[in-house]
Amino acid sequence: MTSRILILDYGSQYTQLIARRVREARVYSEIHPSSRTLTWIREWNPSGIILSGGPNSVYAENAPGAERELLDLAPVLGICYGMQLIAQLEGAEVRRGGKREYGRAEVTVTERNGLFSGFGGGERFAAWMSHGDHIESPPPGYVTTASSGGNPVTAFRHESRPIFGVQFHPEVAHTPRGGEIIANFLFGACKADASWTAGAFIQTEVEKVVAAVGDANVICGLSGGVDSAVAAALVHRAVGDRLTCIFVDTGLLRLHEREQVERTFGEHMGMRLVTIDAADQFLDALAGVEDPETKRTSIGHTFIDVFENAVSAAGSDAKFLVQGTLYPDVIESSSPAGGPSVTIKTHHNVGGLRPGMTFTLIEPLRELFKDEVRNVGRELGLPEEIVGRHPFPGPGLAIRILSDVSRSKLDVLRAADAIYLEEIRSAGLYDSIWQAFAVLLPVRSVGVMGDERTYENVLGLRAVNSTDGMTADWFPFPHEVLARISNRIINEVGGVNRVVYDISSKPPSTIEWE
Ligand code: XMP
Repeated sequence: MTSRILILDYGSQYTQLIARRVREARVYSEIHPSSRTLTWIREWNPSGIILSGGPNSVYAENAPGAERELLDLAPVLGICYGMQLIAQLEGAEVRRGGKREYGRAEVTVTERNGLFSGFGGGERFAAWMSHGDHIESPPPGYVTTASSGGNPVTAFRHESRPIFGVQFHPEVAHTPRGGEIIANFLFGACKADASWTAGAFIQTEVEKVVAAVGDANVICGLSGGVDSAVAAALVHRAVGDRLTCIFVDTGLLRLHEREQVERTFGEHMGMRLVTIDAADQFLDALAGVEDPETKRTSIGHTFIDVFENAVSAAGSDAKFLVQGTLYPDVIESSSPAGGPSVTIKTHHNVGGLRPGMTFTLIEPLRELFKDEVRNVGRELGLPEEIVGRHPFPGPGLAIRILSDVSRSKLDVLRAADAIYLEEIRSAGLYDSIWQAFAVLLPVRSVGVMGDERTYENVLGLRAVNSTDGMTADWFPFPHEVLARISNRIINEVGGVNRVVYDISSKPPSTIEWE
């Protein structure tokens, strides 16, 4: 039996990052709601338990709690709220408010064992804090192992039992040595084995798919992007020819995308692919719609209508629909563990699904981030041409036309976007950029072409770098590349007389404009 770490989710926006750090250490983990009972946890048989952070104060009404026996079931690491919960269970006082700490802090290690083994005693390291309540002195039987200016008990451990707490967030990139701290917990306290790989992930997910599907038929909505291609390849490994992939031409695709997807897919994937032309259906449903969220749900519903019709038209009895849903789709549409996180955008394949649809969803990548999905894709033997593609969202160009969508606007955007990507490729920058696309703005400005006055649309260009789509920075193009792109678009695309470059990072902006 391989080691398994149970992550109990108390509602932090960083909970998935904990799972990700554990995966990076090659240890298997699962996230579950903090309401799991002791009996359930005992049966799950964790090698270690991590209590996440959360937005509450331990004293708040209805604050999620834990039973004291939890601390006896396996080694425990409490992070932020998780640490305060341990302190409260073990009889220490958690002070409310007062010393709020947000952002970067310098933490001093006062004991170089346990979580901080490999750190020098008295060594300082940078850590990310985000808390209002704090712990003034450790519970009886515990010792302080790190402190920071704003916080005398920044980390503690039990004197003899494997129980640890940290007030900062070791899981975020802003705590550069956080990975070492988590690894110390996994390998020092939990004695976990580092055996979990992309290959092991594929094997587990294939087994889950086989168990869920039995000998039923399955369809997969294929968009041509990385996520659905990887999901399809994984499910194909589980069910073979019982899988039919459906590629929907929504009318919202980029220039030549349909031909490209059909070609690459035909060459490399070896699965049955059906293309459905549903452009009229999508564009009719979108006619006159300006609100981004209404667009997204309309597209999500239309996708399901199209899949249901395709299945019944083919006389198939497919009951399962495979989607390449990723973690950022889930977290931005809702909270995966049912916890309190805010809807940023309704991703078409999560919150945008039509109520009453007849399919059961199969989403093997639901807990992964984009870069992890790429690794799974490589492990499945997919070519770089598929695995290295920039992300393209299911709602397609509809969320890159700010205002209502029409065929003529789509034509303008398609032409401009194609030039943009062509120039990025010919400058050798495609693989240095995480995602690049053009956005058609509902703004007209005055220009002069030849001797004529023009009054046409503004086009926005976006290019970002990111690892997982959760945070992103704008890409610093060489000026001569931007100049060439702008010049070509304004000269070659009728309807655009001005080009602007988006220099916003995520957060506070998002990658797509809608
Ligand atoms: P945002 O705009 O939320 O985008 O910063 C993060 C990543 O997700 C993609 N995205 C989507 N992908 N369905 C998808 O399949 C959607 O509804 C959707 N919305 C955004 C976006 O392109 C970026 O890569």
